[in-house]
Amino acid sequence: MTTIQDIKENGVVAIIRGADPESIEDMAEALLEGGVRTLEITMETPNVLAAIEKLRKTYKDELIVGAGTVLDPETARSAIMAGAQFIFAPTVNPETIKMAKRYGVISIPGAMTPTEILTAYESGADVIKVFPANLFGPRYLKDIKGPLPQIPLMPTGGITVDNIKEYIDHGAVAVGVGSALVNTKNPWNNEEKEALTKRARAFTDAYQK
Ligand code: 3PG
Repeated sequence: MTTIQDIKENGVVAIIRGADPESIEDMAEALLEGGVRTLEITMETPNVLAAIEKLRKTYKDELIVGAGTVLDPETARSAIMAGAQFIFAPTVNPETIKMAKRYGVISIPGAMTPTEILTAYESGADVIKVFPANLFGPRYLKDIKGPLPQIPLMPTGGITVDNIKEYIDHGAVAVGVGSALVNTKNPWNNEEKEALTKRARAFTDAYQK
């Protein structure tokens, strides 16, 4: 079973939002090639359940595959049935957290204020996605860690190669990265695949520095 330790080891969670379903497997391959082995596909992406299922079958333990923007327990359950190994969300819904825990799947809800962060943690979340992280910046994590040192935090929103290290140094256990890594607006072709591998490598290197 996938654990939080597995996600921490890699440190970068790639967010695939709204990609063309035909390109998702290639994207996973490019990310893996660049050293990023954890990714989530957001639930509004077309054919997302089939994509999760396919990636789990193809990559088995090589990749950790999650579902993102999971706003309710019903959606969490379908993602879990398709093979999602973690459930990511921009918000806190205790019922969604409970659903993930029922199936032994990692729960990463999104929260911003200390009260939301603690509420999510007490509801059983494994890690809290601090979102949108760029609003307050890396220093905010350190401030939260003062009174709430026990809660693992994963800042997401506005993370780049240039600021990732600062977030880690201020206490993040991992980061979620969308547009600065997986640019689903670019047309998908070999050139973009190579560019994605390069960006993934740059993030992996910056994380491990
Ligand atoms: C998302 O849920 O899409 C994330 O917040 C990604 O944010 P980013 O594109 O700024 O990394």
